Amino acid sequence: MYKKLASDKENIALLLNEVKQVAMQHFQEIETVPASAKPRELKNYKLPKEGLGAEAVLAHFKTEYQQLMCGSSGPRYWGYVTGGATPASVMGDWLATTFDQNTQSIKGRGDVSGIMEKETIQLLLEFFNLPKTFYGGFVTGATMSNFTCLGVARQWVGKNQDYDVALTGLQKPIQVAAGMPHSSVVKGLSMLGIGSTNIHKIPLLEGREAINVEKLEAFLKQNPTGDVIVLSSAGTVNSVDFDDLEAISKLKEIYNFWWHIDAAFGGMVACVEDKKQLISGWKKADSITVDCHKWLNIPYDSAVFFVQEKHQKRQVETYQNSNAPYLGNPMENFTYLNFLPENSRRFRALPVWFSLMAYGKKGHQEIVTRNIDLAQQLANYIETSKDFQLVAPTRVNVVCFKVVGLSQEKQDLFLTTLNSRRKIFITPSVYNGEACFRAAFVNWQTTQKDIAIAIKELEATFQIIKEMKS
Ligand SMILES: Cc1ncc(COP(=O)(O)O)c(C=O)c1O
Repeated sequence: MYKKLASDKENIALLLNEVKQVAMQHFQEIETVPASAKPRELKNYKLPKEGLGAEAVLAHFKTEYQQLMCGSSGPRYWGYVTGGATPASVMGDWLATTFDQNTQSIKGRGDVSGIMEKETIQLLLEFFNLPKTFYGGFVTGATMSNFTCLGVARQWVGKNQDYDVALTGLQKPIQVAAGMPHSSVVKGLSMLGIGSTNIHKIPLLEGREAINVEKLEAFLKQNPTGDVIVLSSAGTVNSVDFDDLEAISKLKEIYNFWWHIDAAFGGMVACVEDKKQLISGWKKADSITVDCHKWLNIPYDSAVFFVQEKHQKRQVETYQNSNAPYLGNPMENFTYLNFLPENSRRFRALPVWFSLMAYGKKGHQEIVTRNIDLAQQLANYIETSKDFQLVAPTRVNVVCFKVVGLSQEKQDLFLTTLNSRRKIFITPSVYNGEACFRAAFVNWQTTQKDIAIAIKELEATFQIIKEMKS
């Protein structure tokens, strides 16, 4: 064994203890860790011929990189839709790395991680109040979850047209209908050869980001049954609007189409009493995407897909390893290896299991309702401020706003200045053709105190820009 490797093995207790100190410091100081990182030039590192050993590398990391780590897991990083990592999920994640299982077999061949994944999926189904007619699995993120589901949908349409897409590739265009699909869904269509421009954009309801269900029905009437994939949004990124899932579920009783719901973060409203009606009807979907590294506050990278059991065969046809006798007969061997896009993968269920078991339904419910309240508090401030203006309704947990009376250039400058102060981090967006800033609340650590800090920061930045203006 290489000498440094052997000595690291000897010193594992000391090394892990040092790493623990770094992690503890990050957790304990997260309130003051800058919300965004200072960019720095790319360096040309030389690969060491003789390794430095883990202790020296950790020291190097601390001086070179640690201070550049931003508080993306902290309370005031509100860019994109960025969840944090609950303490229990971090514990589970450390152990997933330590045990380093290659999660593949549901029958427990080799290790138990596949069985535990299935058990964790059951917990999630219960959390989301979804029926046990769904099975599921873990992938890296909502993009891959959408991709996984749409791969099965593609196979289903092909079979309805009497051919096997997985075997022959696409023979005919697939009809896809959607109102306001997330970019990752569109990306999935492109990766699957369905084509990102082959979406029939169904008009939205007036003043909303939700599909017009009457227009969707008109489209379904014109297209042969069994040929169409309908994509629904359960939580758009700006105004967190939801398609009327109840109404679409009724269409399922009349027309035969594949129904996929992207509920990457919006699915979490399932646990909120006065919001859960937004996803009413979703249990009739053929497939559903939910991200774990967003509002469930599991560390990157983690998402789940749920697919109705009756489609299991189509899923295996799509994702099987068909020419590898050493992996067994895929049609008889329903393992993750044969129903996921990835073969080897990490034990993603463990951090989710830890968090669900540690905080239960109530704990995760509290995070979601608190985030919704906080978004509303910020929105209320903006609504009453003369300097800022809401650009989209704050339906759930995202606030879209702009500064009153500034040119686009100055709006951009406002955002750059705000983020460069590094107390809060928000990202730009466009709503109804209008440029805006958006703050997405999904972190378990965010409290009222952070809203007060944000208001101070917005006002201070406004003063800076105003002084520049005059
Ligand atoms: C509605 C929706 N779908 C899909 C995604 C893609 O998620 P991921 O980056 O985890 O792949 C996002 C990310 O923000 C999202 O908001």
